[in-house]
Amino acid sequence: MAEKSPDHKVILRAFGIVAMLFVALVFVSPGSTAPKMNLPAEPQTRSKGRRPKVTQPPKKPRINYSQFSHRTHVVDQKLACSSCHQVPSKNWKEVRKGDAAFPDVSDFPEHSSCLNCHRTQFFARERPAPVICSNCHIANSPRDTSRWLFPSLGDVNDPTKKRREFVSEFVVGFPHDKHIDVVGFNTPRPEKDPRGWFVTVSLQEKKKDEPPKSCPVCHETYQPQGNSSDEYVTKPPKNLGDKFWLKKGTFKTIPNSHTVCFTCHNADSGIAPEPKDCNVCHKLLSAEPSLKVDFDPKLAADMGITDRIILARWRKRISAGAFRHEGGEHPDLNCLGCHNVTAFNTVDPKTMKVPVRSCGGAEGCHVTATTDDGGVLNFEIAQKKKDAAFVCTKCHIILGKEGVPEDHPQAIPTPQPKVKQSL
Ligand code: HEC
Ligand code: HEC
Ligand code: HEC
Ligand code: HEC
Ligand code: HEC
Ligand code: HEC
Ligand code: HEC
Ligand code: HEC
Repeated sequence: MAEKSPDHKVILRAFGIVAMLFVALVFVSPGSTAPKMNLPAEPQTRSKGRRPKVTQPPKKPRINYSQFSHRTHVVDQKLACSSCHQVPSKNWKEVRKGDAAFPDVSDFPEHSSCLNCHRTQFFARERPAPVICSNCHIANSPRDTSRWLFPSLGDVNDPTKKRREFVSEFVVGFPHDKHIDVVGFNTPRPEKDPRGWFVTVSLQEKKKDEPPKSCPVCHETYQPQGNSSDEYVTKPPKNLGDKFWLKKGTFKTIPNSHTVCFTCHNADSGIAPEPKDCNVCHKLLSAEPSLKVDFDPKLAADMGITDRIILARWRKRISAGAFRHEGGEHPDLNCLGCHNVTAFNTVDPKTMKVPVRSCGGAEGCHVTATTDDGGVLNFEIAQKKKDAAFVCTKCHIILGKEGVPEDHPQAIPTPQPKVKQSL
């Protein structure tokens, strides 16, 4: 259909060029360059054998063209997201089929968005292909020109498409509070679809204590145990005893694509942000020191956990790494009893901490007035007082080795004095 841009042909031909011997000369080792040539002539008189200080020009760090960085391009070069990312991408009707398809950014930026500045790197004599290609292409060879699956397609499960492992430079800023007033907001799917397609997002409670219906639109229990007798995610050792082993239904999912967001935020609805306004939803991560996470990569490896959704969620747990959503009475509790979503700023993890006091619930489940009342928090604090080496394992994976944070004892309600009346 559409003609391949001439750049493809030129680049393909460039593959054919056998690396010349003199390529080696391009990468002369730093020692063999003669910085002095660029410096003003030094006086040859040396006083008292002291070498004069030669101010060398600062060595430029070697640029790694296999590691695209948004900081370089968005912050330093001040490029707009739309100068590279086009929405919808040409392939949007192919990556999701039929009714599932919607105008999405579903592919990498095209060559034209790079060539003005990177002609040298695109035509570099590197084999089997210039390193810069690997930011978008898989095999990097003239025979295989396929690309990775663009990461916005987190919901696409096509075993023939390969995903690249990467650490995102962004976090999604989703204002839970701004969606609170979007009560029963129905968005018919634009054009052609007579049935319409409705997503009702309402963060408001219909009845007191009833969990908001909206949360499961975006957050579902991942791999629930349900009625199955298989409790654990992977097979535990026979002699497990009451040691911790990851159970099914521990995690809630978070959206992994634009599917839900773009039902309301699309070019036709007029609800800002539009899909092209990437930067309104995607915020570059700041280099702030991150919070301690309650996750142990070695333990996860020992358990044989390789599921990327589980690992992504577990790595981000900052409150209680062992907490299981499907466990005990948790499914019957209101999400808002533990998650104060109106105070959330999803760009700032510490605003999303679960307060310890919520582990007490309405009836003091894990936090009771006295240890005799059975609260596990009370018990563990008491143990830790007796023996500083005690490890709190009920709610934690690794945080329980540390000292007791202030808010833990503060969460314990002071026993009500029997009779006391002061006027
Ligand atoms: C100079 C071109 C360019 C600009 C400008 C640009 N991107 Fe990208 N973006 C890329 C390329 C190339 C990739 C794929 C390589 C990679 O994943 O690092 C990518 C990947 C991404 C990814 C997936 C990888 C990740 O780190 O999460 C997101 C999200 C993204 N871009 C968002 C944005 C947003 C938001 C903006 C504007 C603030 C933006 N991009 C501006 C070229 C660009
Ligand atoms: C406006 C000019 C400009 C455009 C357009 C541009 N770059 Fe760059 N890029 C730079 C500059 C400047 C650097 C810093 C290193 C250098 O001087 O080469 C850089 C660095 C890089 C690097 C090295 C790692 C880093 O710091 O990011 C990669 C990889 C890269 N660019 C890939 C791309 C790709 C892929 C595209 C197109 C999607 C692109 N660039 C578009 C100017 C640009
Ligand atoms: C910023 C991401 C990006 C980089 C870097 C990149 N490509 Fe591409 N490439 C694409 C996209 C997107 C297409 C599909 C464009 C289209 O459909 O019009 C493509 C298409 C191609 C094609 C045509 C074959 C096909 O599948 O349609 C060839 C060949 C190719 N690229 C080679 C290269 C080579 C060689 C390099 C390195 C010198 C390179 N590309 C670097 C994104 C990239
Ligand atoms: C329209 C989709 C949507 C709805 C509805 C929604 N959320 Fe979210 N939620 C998100 C997104 C997006 C994030 C940010 C995910 C990320 O970090 O990338 C998030 C983050 C969270 C987090 C923090 C996850 C973490 O990484 O620790 C919690 C907890 C949460 N939401 C709970 C809720 C609860 C409770 C409700 C119902 C009152 C709710 N959400 C409704 C989309 C939604
Ligand atoms: C009894 C308290 C409690 C209830 C009720 C609860 N959660 Fe959670 N939730 C937690 C804890 C604890 C975490 C782990 C937070 C951390 O360590 O960062 C968590 C984490 C999450 C996360 C991040 C992903 C993950 O599993 O780590 C999401 C999303 C979430 N909860 C959504 C919900 C939704 C939606 C509901 C209601 C259907 C709900 N939660 C009910 C305590 C609760
Ligand atoms: C049911 C429709 C609906 C869905 C689904 C929805 N939104 Fe929204 N969103 C809205 C409406 C309406 C507003 C405007 C609210 C206001 O201004 O008070 C809004 C506002 C926003 C804003 C604030 C824009 C600004 O200018 O500050 C962001 C960011 C946002 N949404 C992101 C998302 C993301 C991310 C998702 C998917 C996880 C999502 N929305 C899903 C309806 C929706
Ligand atoms: C209405 C808000 C919104 C807009 C606008 C938006 N995105 Fe997203 N994007 C999301 C959400 C929510 C996710 C899923 C959460 C996640 O993957 O962290 C996501 C996921 C992605 C991912 C996968 C990131 C990852 O780490 O796996 C990429 C890539 C991406 N978006 C690129 C873009 C680009 C490029 C644009 C602009 C053309 C854009 N998005 C516009 C909300 C938005
Ligand atoms: C009933 C569940 C529960 C028990 C039992 C529990 N914790 Fe916590 N812990 C939490 C929650 C929820 C948080 C997140 C809120 C916070 O930071 O206080 C947390 C946070 C922490 C933090 C991180 C504080 C920070 O500032 O980042 C440490 C350290 C910690 N706990 C240690 C312990 C120790 C030591 C014990 C045993 C005496 C213990 N916890 C027992 C639920 C529990």
